Amino acid sequence: MREPIIAIDGPSGAGKSTLSKLLAAEFGYLNLDTGAMYRTVALAATRQGVATDDGAALARLCAEISITFQRDGGGERVLLDGADVTTAIRTPQISQLTAVVAACPEVRAAMTAQQRKIAAAGGVVLEGRDIGTAVFPDAEVKFFLSASAAERGRRRYNELRDKGVAVDLAQTVREIEERDAADSARTHAPLVQAADAMVIDSSFLDIDAVLQVMVSEVERWRAHCDTAAPSS
Ligand code: DC
Repeated sequence: MREPIIAIDGPSGAGKSTLSKLLAAEFGYLNLDTGAMYRTVALAATRQGVATDDGAALARLCAEISITFQRDGGGERVLLDGADVTTAIRTPQISQLTAVVAACPEVRAAMTAQQRKIAAAGGVVLEGRDIGTAVFPDAEVKFFLSASAAERGRRRYNELRDKGVAVDLAQTVREIEERDAADSARTHAPLVQAADAMVIDSSFLDIDAVLQVMVSEVERWRAHCDTAAPSS
């Protein structure tokens, strides 16, 4: 039986990473964090002094570097040319640069090609912004995970505060709104909801409740696929 390609798209802070990992673990599927791929390109560009507005140079960079993932207990490490960059790609500076790099059509083309290659066989959960619309418009199961900016800001605020970072709640919500606007307004592969995606608003749902909805949807698809498949 073919296992599905599952797309989880949505704005930052909606819980995509957590849910994507849990859903993949539930079915023994691969989990692909496509945001980490864009972040790694931004880091490589910084390290090699490539200007983030030079499309041709960024295309060469994407062709030269190797981005891989390694399972590490319950977590996952991101490797750039074999070296661990898991923490280095999460700094605020790299987050900002990533938004610029991710708007470059050459970078999007290179990452999309890699994502298609990795996930073509199915049994993969991909999380990002454009999976159900641009990377895999024919993905078998699509989710669009959202939550109000106020709620996503509150979650981000708690996360940073727990890490000991001094933050302001109103400022955090403002930053979320600014990133949403930038992600939605860009010309290439903006954040839009696929018409056939199941929309889940997690503003008033905890992780477990959202996971249950997703698991049921995947099980429904698998059961349907089983009955539809010709018997051998
Ligand atoms: O999900 P994240 O915060 O790690 O994403 C980092 C950046 O990459 C963010 O600016 C959105 C962008 N991104 C994208 O343009 N397309 C994707 N498929 C995934 C992320």
